[in-house]
Amino acid sequence: MADARVLVVDDEKSMRDLLAITLAKEGYDVTVADGGAEAIEAVRRDPFDAVITDLRMARVDGLQVLRSTKEISPETAVIVVTAVGSTETAVEAMKLGAYDYLTKPFKLDEIALVVKNALERKRLRDENVYLREQLGHQYRLDNIVGKSAALAGVFDTVRKVADSPSTVIITGESGTGKELVARAIHFNGSRRNKPFVPVNCGAVPEDLLESELFGHVRGAFTGAVSNKVGLFTAAEGGTLFLDEITEIPTLLQVKLLRAIQEREIRRVGDTREIKIDVRLIAASNRDLEQAVQDGVLREDLFYRLNVIPIHLPPLRERREDIPILVAHFLDKLGKQLGKRVSGVAPEAMALLERYHWPGNIRELENVFERAIVLGGGDVVGPDALPDSLRRERPVRGLVVELPEDGMDLEATLDGIERRYLQKAMERTNNVQTKAAELLRMTFRQFRYKLQKHNMARRGTGTDD
Ligand SMILES: Nc1ncnc2c1ncn2[C@@H]1O[C@H](COP(=O)(O)OP(=O)(O)OP(=O)(O)O)[C@@H](O)[C@H]1O
Ligand SMILES: [Mg+2]
Repeated sequence: MADARVLVVDDEKSMRDLLAITLAKEGYDVTVADGGAEAIEAVRRDPFDAVITDLRMARVDGLQVLRSTKEISPETAVIVVTAVGSTETAVEAMKLGAYDYLTKPFKLDEIALVVKNALERKRLRDENVYLREQLGHQYRLDNIVGKSAALAGVFDTVRKVADSPSTVIITGESGTGKELVARAIHFNGSRRNKPFVPVNCGAVPEDLLESELFGHVRGAFTGAVSNKVGLFTAAEGGTLFLDEITEIPTLLQVKLLRAIQEREIRRVGDTREIKIDVRLIAASNRDLEQAVQDGVLREDLFYRLNVIPIHLPPLRERREDIPILVAHFLDKLGKQLGKRVSGVAPEAMALLERYHWPGNIRELENVFERAIVLGGGDVVGPDALPDSLRRERPVRGLVVELPEDGMDLEATLDGIERRYLQKAMERTNNVQTKAAELLRMTFRQFRYKLQKHNMARRGTGTDD
């Protein structure tokens, strides 16, 4: 922290000069005061970042300088200098809010270090005060935090659509906040007192999904021992959140489309239609136009859903949101975990801002939960962060070359994809569920890719 303003107070000229020269060499903007009265006057004129004062001075002593400084400018770090054998006064000084004390005789690099630490801590404090203020004034909606232009656009849309019955589709990578936004839409609209029902279409076994969504009547299929109310009915008057929409088998997508268009459903095994009043919000972490092209999302359903699209960009494309999210999670998790953490060390913040965040905001949140639980101190330092953040490197082992006369990007990427699929299958002895996991895909996405590359019939899956 160069050009920090430091005041050196001593009524003994040689000591005063020695300190002043040492600190000026460190790059600080140094002012000297001959005695306590002069020091207090200087502080009153213009606050300093740090004050170093001798304790034993004639007339106005160091403790008085400390008291007055804390009164006039509480943020100023005060360091007191005592003679050996006067620990009691040092203790009193600490109680009065001194940052630290030094015992004479001290080494010059010792004083330089103490001042440096004091200033560092002050800077951190100032920064966190600033962050908290930002948190108060920011453009916020419920628990959605951010100040990037992308997010401001999202807030805007959420407000506008909350009260309308229109279908909304939210896209974005895993952990970008799709469910959070869906909830914000529901809870800011007129349906807020009715149910919000989330369903992860990828997590329900394919053959059960229809009865899960629409319900069934007794005897509709083996195992249907009684009538079952579907999630559409459970969400009556409220919102149904269909997460991972592309995981719905295409046959069922036809029925879903019908339900949306006709505003009525038919339970499995039933002959009657049931009227519904449900707002639909769908979400996916895939590029939906691509999904249509790939044949996993029916085009007609896509157009029916795509009334109000909201896209949440990955965190690495809105890094300006990182500091404010950090402040938000420090506050939120600190309260949840019952630990007060006041800030993040600059080196740690630099790592956080540089990392590519494949798991997006969920990953950031997890990193802070871990740091708060495991970290000892008042400040999150680089050591409290997982290794992956410190090992950040560009994509490993991939040398990219663009030939003079260009190349077919699609074909090249296809080839790369194929090789990764092969690698994953080899590594897992052809167990597709494990291979899918290795590549961070759902089983169905993985199986789809295998089919695309004509690799489907090798190896064992689970349910086919
Ligand atoms: N802008 C934000 N401000 C504060 N917290 C956020 C924000 N975005 C996401 N989060 C938090 O990050 C976590 C992940 O968000 P969410 O579950 O909504 O992501 P998602 O996009 O639905 O992920 P997935 O595709 O994996 O289901 C949640 O704990 C959520 O509260
Ligand atoms: Mg989600």
